Amino acid sequence: MGDMQQIAVPGLPAGLAVRALSSALGAELRGLDLSGPIGRDTVRLMRSLLHEHCVLLVPGQALDEAQQVRFGECFGRLGRTLGTFDILRNVHPAIMYVTNEKADGKYIGALPDGEMFFHSDTCYVEHPCVATMLYAMKIPSSGGDTRFANQYAAWDALPDAVKRRIEGLSAVNTYEPGGTDNYAVPISRSRPTPNARTWAHPMVLTHPGSGRKALYVNRLMTEYVVGMPRAESDALLGMLFDHQEQARFVYAHRWTPGDVLIWDNRCVLHARSDFDAGQERKLRRVTVDAEHTEDALQ
Ligand code: SIN
Repeated sequence: MGDMQQIAVPGLPAGLAVRALSSALGAELRGLDLSGPIGRDTVRLMRSLLHEHCVLLVPGQALDEAQQVRFGECFGRLGRTLGTFDILRNVHPAIMYVTNEKADGKYIGALPDGEMFFHSDTCYVEHPCVATMLYAMKIPSSGGDTRFANQYAAWDALPDAVKRRIEGLSAVNTYEPGGTDNYAVPISRSRPTPNARTWAHPMVLTHPGSGRKALYVNRLMTEYVVGMPRAESDALLGMLFDHQEQARFVYAHRWTPGDVLIWDNRCVLHARSDFDAGQERKLRRVTVDAEHTEDALQ
């Protein structure tokens, strides 16, 4: 972390500093307090850093639920959680706790423990969320890192023959709420539930903000290529999963309580490394379903 490169931002207000998180992706913005009002110029700055670097970290925050929701709303319309966690009834509907914390013997949130394969949030619905934000509250002494893989770079690095082969193809993504507590196997191998959600998306996505192409498949949720024999589809997807997760495309974030980190699900996959289930881990999540247009920021 110590050797992160400074990023030059023309007109950056005094007191703010921007640095690269890694050579793969990510920017860190220091010097902000997100608990109070956030001016439009700051929103524009964060939005452009997010578009350019795919992941934006703002460390050192102390946010309650309402403050995090208000900050999330700077980026766009927030999503609603799936609502499967009874105990969360009193929580703001845009908030989901990613935690292994329990109350009365029951998990109070979602995705409690263990490794998670790379994925893109809500890629199993017609209109997936465009961005996800986590606020770190309790972090185990080791492990539980969130890893981010740059899918612009993964696409750019594919051989031309593979690019030609997959452009125009779609793949089916699946998620089974409550169908598994093991996110280190493909979701399609978990037990089927009546709640299974599934949607076919183009395997190559053109980002509406940057116009750049990104690979849009993932090991956790992408099941098969539409219209392709299953064995051929499995081989193609297996090759793409191995390609897109290479270390050269990945940044592993070691959380510090107070970190606020937002990523763009259209050009970044994320995964989680395993950690000791006996240690508490708690992050507060909101998702952005639709970004504000430039006009809305005027
Ligand atoms: C998620 O996939 O949304 C959770 C990531 C994490 O727990 O690090």
